[in-house]
Amino acid sequence: MNDKIKVLVSEEDVNNKIREIGAQITKDYAGKQVHMICVLKGGAFFMCELAKRIDLDVSLDFMAVSSYGSGTESSGVVKIVKDLDESITGKDVLIVEDIIDSGRTLAALKEMLLQRNPASLKICTLLDKPDRRVTHVDVDYVCFDIPDEFVVGYGLDYDQKYRNLPYIGVVVNEEQQ
Ligand code: IMP
Ligand code: MG
Repeated sequence: MNDKIKVLVSEEDVNNKIREIGAQITKDYAGKQVHMICVLKGGAFFMCELAKRIDLDVSLDFMAVSSYGSGTESSGVVKIVKDLDESITGKDVLIVEDIIDSGRTLAALKEMLLQRNPASLKICTLLDKPDRRVTHVDVDYVCFDIPDEFVVGYGLDYDQKYRNLPYIGVVVNEEQQ
């Protein structure tokens, strides 16, 4: 952990916002069971916190995808690395993501999951970088819109590190210190 991390969203602000979004989801899904699908690995911390703030029956499943592209850009060709354990047919599905960047991964994932005939399909993301959007995707719940900076923490990694930070931060390069 030699990099310097600048706090972008504090632990308190993240947790308060998740509480708020959890209350909103509780209202919106009243009388239903929310079937939460976590997109691994980034969405894991967020999903656990969010699930605790939803005052309804909740079931959980996990999926891992990889999108191939050149360099750091995702391509929109999404490959399922780990599929769901259970069928989503007839369920009220809520996809839980860490961040939406170009939108390619989520747009492709949504398309794939809709073919499995869920009763409904909504998307909830911890972070959104609207300035980076290439592919349009309707997002139902967004905790924070952030500027075009590479962020870590609360599930998000830089080279697999920093997922366990309890806040959202920006890695400051040596030259910028
Ligand atoms: P996209 O929306 O298809 O471009 O890709 C979104 C995925 O890229 C996310 O699920 C993250 O795994 C990764 N990603 C995008 N921006 C960041 C960031 O700032 N920090 C860490 N991972 C990111
Ligand atoms: Mg992700």
